[in-house]
Amino acid sequence: MRGKFITFEGIDGAGKSTHIEWVAERLRARPDTGHVVTTREPGGTPLGEDLRQLLLHRPMHLETEALLMFAARREHIAEVIEPALARGDWVISDRFTDATFAYQGGGRGLSLDRLEALEQWVQGDLQPDLTLLFDVPLETASERLAGARSPDKFEAESRAFFQRTRAEYLRRAEAAPGRFRVIDATRSIEEIRVTLEEILASL
Ligand code: TMP
Repeated sequence: MRGKFITFEGIDGAGKSTHIEWVAERLRARPDTGHVVTTREPGGTPLGEDLRQLLLHRPMHLETEALLMFAARREHIAEVIEPALARGDWVISDRFTDATFAYQGGGRGLSLDRLEALEQWVQGDLQPDLTLLFDVPLETASERLAGARSPDKFEAESRAFFQRTRAEYLRRAEAAPGRFRVIDATRSIEEIRVTLEEILASL
């Protein structure tokens, strides 16, 4: 049987990464999940990690950025995601295509139609079974980012950029309520874990 594909999303500073290994461990403890692979985008393969370095640190045309995101994704799907799901493994990815719609579409203002064409080309019918959107207001996100390591190209973006990115994430969640769960990530780690536990129980 094919495994399930779960993605974690949210603006920088929403705190999603804190929860990924915990969710993976909860799933590994279940008898019905088998092997659980954790991975990330951009990245997840040796080539994808090289592209990540360029994407996070090198200034580039906004369409180049979107194309490289999808190029890294093509490699990730071929090398990691598809083989794992076909083996019956579960895959948890720290970001996937919703991030491109939110950041390159919402944040940078790139045409959503163009992104949809690339999505169709690169992933065909592949969509996550579940997307956890960690949602926080911008104030909370910037407080969480302040004092962290020196910001990458995205983390250094303006407040207006993150407002548009967050709005596009929420718009997508509203448009696909069967796939998305929006998590109020302003709460404590313990409270968020209670919500995550409920969501995992319904899988
Ligand atoms: P991370 O810090 O959560 O690992 O994500 C890396 C950055 O890349 C983050 O600021 C969001 C951005 N990003 C995009 O702009 N588009 C994408 O498609 C993906 C996957 C990430």
